[in-house]
Amino acid sequence: MAYSEKVMDHFTHPRNVGEIENADGVGTVGNAKCGDIMQMFIKVENDVIVDVKFKTFGCGAAIATSSMATELIKGKSIDDALKLTNSAVVEALEGLPPVKVHCSVLAEEAIKSAIADYYKRNGIDKEVEMPPEDCHECAVEH
Ligand code: FES
Repeated sequence: MAYSEKVMDHFTHPRNVGEIENADGVGTVGNAKCGDIMQMFIKVENDVIVDVKFKTFGCGAAIATSSMATELIKGKSIDDALKLTNSAVVEALEGLPPVKVHCSVLAEEAIKSAIADYYKRNGIDKEVEMPPEDCHECAVEH
């Protein structure tokens, strides 16, 4: 399977790359399968994610999925952002080859861990449920 045009677009022109100084939450996660790392920064105002940026030492699919994921959660409430699954990101990108689906989990995890960090910093006693170790829909062993 080839990469969709949307994947190529987000890979070659990733949105929201960088760092947010004085971020309200920072999440750093690693992909156990490949060793790639993702960092997500969020700025929160009145429970809304007003800004989000990411940095990654990850593959092209990780870059494209994070770029799309940041677009999908920007301007959304925290509760809506927590509902974003890697499958929804993959769908928005019009698909990923099955062997690359695990890369999209990194984006979901990074967002959730940035929100968990935001909760922690603000003394908000809420649990964030992380995605399972294995990809939601990936049938491939890796
Ligand atoms: Fe590691 Fe894609 S191969 S995130």
